[in-house]
Amino acid sequence: MYKKLMACVASIREKTDFKPEVALILGSGLGDYADGIKVEATVNYSDIEGFPISTVAGHKGRFVFGYVGEVPVVIMQGRVHYYEGYAMSDVVLPTRLMGMLGAKKLFLTNAAGGINTSYNPGCFMMITDHITTAVPNPLIGPNIEELGSRFPDMSEVYSKRLRDVIRKSAEQCGIEIEEGVYVQLTGPSYETPAEIRMCRGWGGDAVGMSTACEAIAARHMGLEVCGISCITNLAAGVSDRKLDHKEVQETADRVSMEFKRLVTQIIENM
Ligand code: HPA
Repeated sequence: MYKKLMACVASIREKTDFKPEVALILGSGLGDYADGIKVEATVNYSDIEGFPISTVAGHKGRFVFGYVGEVPVVIMQGRVHYYEGYAMSDVVLPTRLMGMLGAKKLFLTNAAGGINTSYNPGCFMMITDHITTAVPNPLIGPNIEELGSRFPDMSEVYSKRLRDVIRKSAEQCGIEIEEGVYVQLTGPSYETPAEIRMCRGWGGDAVGMSTACEAIAARHMGLEVCGISCITNLAAGVSDRKLDHKEVQETADRVSMEFKRLVTQIIENM
Protein backbone atom coordinates (compact mmCIF):
# COMPACT_ATOMS: atom_id res chain seq x y z
CA MET A 1 0.00 0.00 0.00
CA TYR A 2 2.81 2.44 0.81
CA LYS A 3 4.42 1.72 -2.58
CA LYS A 4 1.07 2.35 -4.28
CA LEU A 5 0.77 5.64 -2.38
CA MET A 6 4.30 6.67 -3.37
CA ALA A 7 3.51 5.90 -7.03
CA CYS A 8 0.40 8.11 -6.83
CA VAL A 9 2.43 10.92 -5.24
CA ALA A 10 5.02 10.64 -8.02
CA SER A 11 2.27 10.71 -10.63
CA ILE A 12 0.83 13.93 -9.14
CA ARG A 13 4.27 15.49 -8.70
CA GLU A 14 4.85 15.12 -12.47
CA LYS A 15 1.98 17.58 -12.92
CA THR A 16 2.36 20.01 -10.03
CA ASP A 17 4.74 20.81 -7.16
CA PHE A 18 2.01 22.72 -5.28
CA LYS A 19 2.27 22.24 -1.50
CA PRO A 20 -1.12 22.42 0.25
CA GLU A 21 -1.62 23.35 3.90
CA VAL A 22 -5.27 22.32 4.12
CA ALA A 23 -6.99 19.34 2.48
CA LEU A 24 -10.72 19.66 1.84
CA ILE A 25 -13.06 16.83 0.89
CA LEU A 26 -16.29 17.99 -0.75
CA GLY A 27 -19.60 16.30 -0.03
CA SER A 28 -22.95 16.65 -1.81
CA GLY A 29 -23.92 20.25 -2.54
CA LEU A 30 -20.33 21.48 -2.36
CA GLY A 31 -19.27 19.77 -5.58
CA ASP A 32 -18.61 23.05 -7.38
CA TYR A 33 -16.86 24.78 -4.46
CA ALA A 34 -13.49 24.26 -6.12
CA ASP A 35 -14.65 26.21 -9.19
CA GLY A 36 -14.83 29.35 -7.04
CA ILE A 37 -11.26 29.33 -5.71
CA LYS A 38 -8.01 30.62 -7.19
CA VAL A 39 -7.00 27.44 -9.05
CA GLU A 40 -3.29 26.69 -9.58
CA ALA A 41 -3.53 23.14 -10.93
CA THR A 42 -5.95 20.24 -11.33
CA VAL A 43 -5.21 16.54 -11.57
CA ASN A 44 -7.89 14.09 -12.74
CA TYR A 45 -8.11 10.91 -10.67
CA SER A 46 -8.10 8.96 -13.94
CA ASP A 47 -4.60 10.32 -14.66
CA ILE A 48 -3.22 8.94 -11.39
CA GLU A 49 -1.83 5.41 -11.66
CA GLY A 50 -3.73 3.00 -9.37
CA PHE A 51 -6.23 5.56 -8.13
CA PRO A 52 -9.76 4.33 -7.20
CA ILE A 53 -12.26 6.11 -9.48
CA SER A 54 -15.65 7.28 -8.13
CA THR A 55 -18.79 6.07 -9.89
CA VAL A 56 -21.58 8.11 -8.24
CA ALA A 57 -23.36 10.48 -10.61
CA GLY A 58 -22.71 14.10 -9.74
CA HIS A 59 -19.25 13.43 -8.28
CA LYS A 60 -16.43 14.87 -10.32
CA GLY A 61 -13.17 13.05 -9.97
CA ARG A 62 -10.20 15.30 -9.52
CA PHE A 63 -7.86 17.08 -7.14
CA VAL A 64 -7.93 20.86 -7.37
CA PHE A 65 -4.90 22.76 -6.04
CA GLY A 66 -5.18 26.45 -5.29
CA TYR A 67 -5.82 29.19 -2.75
CA VAL A 68 -8.77 29.99 -0.50
CA GLY A 69 -7.83 33.53 0.48
CA GLU A 70 -4.13 33.14 1.28
CA VAL A 71 -4.39 29.49 2.31
CA PRO A 72 -2.91 26.86 -0.03
CA VAL A 73 -5.42 24.03 -0.33
CA VAL A 74 -5.94 20.73 -2.09
CA ILE A 75 -9.57 19.89 -2.73
CA MET A 76 -10.99 16.46 -3.46
CA GLN A 77 -13.78 17.05 -5.91
CA GLY A 78 -15.53 13.69 -5.65
CA ARG A 79 -14.72 11.13 -2.98
CA VAL A 80 -14.50 7.37 -3.03
CA HIS A 81 -17.15 5.41 -1.09
CA TYR A 82 -16.90 1.96 0.46
CA TYR A 83 -20.27 0.96 -1.08
CA GLU A 84 -18.75 1.31 -4.55
CA GLY A 85 -16.88 -1.90 -3.84
CA TYR A 86 -13.40 -0.71 -2.97
CA ALA A 87 -11.39 -1.97 -0.03
CA MET A 88 -11.35 0.50 2.86
CA SER A 89 -7.62 0.98 2.27
CA ASP A 90 -8.48 2.28 -1.23
CA VAL A 91 -11.33 4.43 0.08
CA VAL A 92 -8.85 6.34 2.27
CA LEU A 93 -6.02 6.37 -0.29
CA PRO A 94 -6.87 9.89 -1.53
CA THR A 95 -6.92 11.20 2.05
CA ARG A 96 -3.50 9.72 2.70
CA LEU A 97 -2.23 11.14 -0.58
CA MET A 98 -3.26 14.66 0.39
CA GLY A 99 -1.37 14.24 3.66
CA MET A 100 1.68 12.97 1.79
CA LEU A 101 1.49 16.00 -0.53
CA GLY A 102 1.98 18.20 2.53
CA ALA A 103 -1.47 18.97 3.97
CA LYS A 104 -1.40 19.38 7.76
CA LYS A 105 -5.13 19.82 8.28
CA LEU A 106 -8.10 17.92 6.88
CA PHE A 107 -11.54 19.49 6.52
CA LEU A 108 -14.28 16.90 5.86
CA THR A 109 -17.75 17.68 4.55
CA ASN A 110 -20.68 15.44 3.72
CA ALA A 111 -24.43 15.07 3.43
CA ALA A 112 -26.02 13.15 6.27
CA GLY A 113 -29.38 12.07 7.63
CA GLY A 114 -30.51 13.62 10.91
CA ILE A 115 -30.99 11.15 13.77
CA ASN A 116 -31.31 13.86 16.41
CA THR A 117 -35.01 14.84 16.40
CA SER A 118 -34.18 18.52 16.98
CA TYR A 119 -32.41 18.78 13.58
CA ASN A 120 -34.14 20.15 10.48
CA PRO A 121 -33.30 19.34 6.85
CA GLY A 122 -30.85 21.95 5.60
CA CYS A 123 -29.15 22.54 8.94
CA PHE A 124 -25.42 22.09 9.52
CA MET A 125 -23.80 19.89 12.14
CA MET A 126 -20.22 20.23 13.28
CA ILE A 127 -18.90 16.72 13.87
CA THR A 128 -17.67 16.39 17.46
CA ASP A 129 -16.96 12.65 17.34
CA HIS A 130 -17.86 9.59 15.30
CA ILE A 131 -18.91 5.93 15.50
CA THR A 132 -17.55 3.48 12.91
CA THR A 133 -18.34 0.24 14.72
CA ALA A 134 -20.47 -0.97 11.79
CA VAL A 135 -17.85 -0.52 9.04
CA PRO A 136 -14.38 -2.05 8.58
CA ASN A 137 -11.55 0.03 10.01
CA PRO A 138 -9.39 1.53 7.21
CA LEU A 139 -6.23 0.67 9.16
CA ILE A 140 -6.88 -3.09 9.03
CA GLY A 141 -3.98 -4.87 7.35
CA PRO A 142 -0.23 -4.47 7.76
CA ASN A 143 0.47 -1.15 9.47
CA ILE A 144 2.06 1.48 7.23
CA GLU A 145 4.91 2.36 9.58
CA GLU A 146 5.93 5.33 7.42
CA LEU A 147 2.57 6.97 8.16
CA GLY A 148 1.77 6.14 11.77
CA SER A 149 1.58 3.65 14.61
CA ARG A 150 -0.27 0.32 14.82
CA PHE A 151 -2.72 1.43 17.53
CA PRO A 152 -3.32 5.15 17.07
CA ASP A 153 -5.20 7.12 19.72
CA MET A 154 -8.70 8.28 18.67
CA SER A 155 -9.71 10.23 21.78
CA GLU A 156 -9.79 13.55 19.91
CA VAL A 157 -10.37 12.79 16.22
CA TYR A 158 -12.04 16.14 15.57
CA SER A 159 -9.59 18.72 16.90
CA LYS A 160 -10.77 20.89 19.80
CA ARG A 161 -8.88 23.80 18.31
CA LEU A 162 -10.60 23.46 14.93
CA ARG A 163 -13.98 23.00 16.62
CA ASP A 164 -13.44 26.42 18.20
CA VAL A 165 -12.49 27.79 14.78
CA ILE A 166 -15.72 26.38 13.29
CA ARG A 167 -17.90 27.86 16.07
CA LYS A 168 -16.25 31.25 15.71
CA SER A 169 -16.48 31.17 11.90
CA ALA A 170 -20.17 30.22 11.96
CA GLU A 171 -20.83 33.14 14.29
CA GLN A 172 -18.91 35.50 11.95
CA CYS A 173 -21.06 34.25 9.05
CA GLY A 174 -24.28 34.49 11.06
CA ILE A 175 -24.93 30.80 10.39
CA GLU A 176 -26.34 28.53 13.09
CA ILE A 177 -24.50 25.26 13.55
CA GLU A 178 -25.46 22.17 15.54
CA GLU A 179 -22.89 19.87 17.13
CA GLY A 180 -23.08 16.11 17.16
CA VAL A 181 -21.80 12.60 16.65
CA TYR A 182 -21.60 11.16 13.11
CA VAL A 183 -22.30 7.47 12.55
CA GLN A 184 -20.81 5.89 9.44
CA LEU A 185 -22.62 2.91 7.93
CA THR A 186 -21.73 1.18 4.67
CA GLY A 187 -24.82 2.01 2.60
CA PRO A 188 -25.71 2.09 -0.21
CA SER A 189 -29.24 1.31 0.99
CA TYR A 190 -30.57 3.87 3.42
CA GLU A 191 -31.13 2.70 6.97
CA THR A 192 -34.24 1.07 8.38
CA PRO A 193 -36.11 2.85 11.18
CA ALA A 194 -34.84 0.12 13.56
CA GLU A 195 -31.24 0.82 12.53
CA ILE A 196 -31.77 4.51 13.16
CA ARG A 197 -33.16 3.77 16.63
CA MET A 198 -30.05 1.67 17.24
CA CYS A 199 -27.77 4.52 16.08
CA ARG A 200 -29.62 6.91 18.40
CA GLY A 201 -29.13 4.46 21.26
CA TRP A 202 -25.41 4.40 20.45
CA GLY A 203 -25.31 8.19 20.81
CA GLY A 204 -25.40 9.19 17.16
CA ASP A 205 -26.87 12.46 15.91
CA ALA A 206 -26.35 12.04 12.15
CA VAL A 207 -25.80 9.11 9.81
CA GLY A 208 -23.94 8.81 6.53
CA MET A 209 -21.84 6.61 4.26
CA SER A 210 -18.42 8.32 4.33
CA THR A 211 -16.12 10.63 6.26
CA ALA A 212 -15.32 8.82 9.51
CA CYS A 213 -13.00 6.32 7.78
CA GLU A 214 -11.16 9.26 6.21
CA ALA A 215 -10.87 10.90 9.61
CA ILE A 216 -9.31 7.73 11.04
CA ALA A 217 -6.72 7.49 8.25
CA ALA A 218 -5.89 11.18 8.65
CA ARG A 219 -5.46 10.91 12.43
CA HIS A 220 -3.27 7.83 11.93
CA MET A 221 -0.84 10.03 10.01
CA GLY A 222 -1.14 12.92 12.44
CA LEU A 223 -3.30 15.38 10.49
CA GLU A 224 -5.49 17.80 12.40
CA VAL A 225 -9.11 16.98 11.46
CA CYS A 226 -12.47 18.73 11.48
CA GLY A 227 -15.79 18.10 9.74
CA ILE A 228 -19.25 19.41 9.01
CA SER A 229 -22.34 17.49 7.91
CA CYS A 230 -25.11 19.08 5.93
CA ILE A 231 -28.25 17.44 7.32
CA THR A 232 -30.12 16.91 4.06
CA ASN A 233 -33.00 14.85 5.43
CA LEU A 234 -34.41 13.34 8.58
CA ALA A 235 -33.14 9.79 8.93
CA ALA A 236 -35.45 6.82 8.30
CA GLY A 237 -38.40 6.65 10.69
CA VAL A 238 -37.73 10.11 12.19
CA SER A 239 -40.49 11.37 9.90
CA ASP A 240 -43.01 9.49 7.74
CA ARG A 241 -41.23 10.45 4.52
CA LYS A 242 -39.45 7.89 2.39
CA LEU A 243 -35.80 8.64 1.68
CA ASP A 244 -34.46 9.27 -1.77
CA HIS A 245 -31.22 10.53 -3.23
CA LYS A 246 -33.02 13.30 -5.12
CA GLU A 247 -34.25 14.86 -1.89
CA VAL A 248 -30.74 14.63 -0.44
CA GLN A 249 -29.33 16.46 -3.45
CA GLU A 250 -32.09 19.05 -3.54
CA THR A 251 -31.56 20.00 0.10
CA ALA A 252 -27.77 20.07 -0.34
CA ASP A 253 -28.17 22.36 -3.37
CA ARG A 254 -30.62 24.61 -1.53
CA VAL A 255 -28.14 25.44 1.24
CA SER A 256 -24.95 25.20 -0.82
CA MET A 257 -24.33 28.98 -1.00
CA GLU A 258 -24.43 29.20 2.79
CA PHE A 259 -22.28 26.10 3.15
CA LYS A 260 -19.64 27.50 0.77
CA ARG A 261 -19.54 30.81 2.62
CA LEU A 262 -19.03 28.94 5.90
CA VAL A 263 -16.33 26.67 4.48
CA THR A 264 -14.37 29.65 3.12
CA GLN A 265 -14.55 31.48 6.45
CA ILE A 266 -13.40 28.39 8.33
CA ILE A 267 -10.43 27.77 6.03
CA GLU A 268 -9.34 31.40 6.36
CA ASN A 269 -9.55 31.09 10.17
CA MET A 270 -7.76 27.74 10.38
N1 HPA B 1 -28.57 8.03 5.57
C1 HPA B 1 -27.32 7.74 5.14
N2 HPA B 1 -26.62 8.58 4.38
C2 HPA B 1 -27.18 9.76 4.06
C3 HPA B 1 -28.46 10.11 4.48
C4 HPA B 1 -29.20 9.19 5.27
O1 HPA B 1 -30.34 9.43 5.69
N3 HPA B 1 -28.72 11.34 3.97
C5 HPA B 1 -27.62 11.72 3.28
N4 HPA B 1 -26.67 10.77 3.33
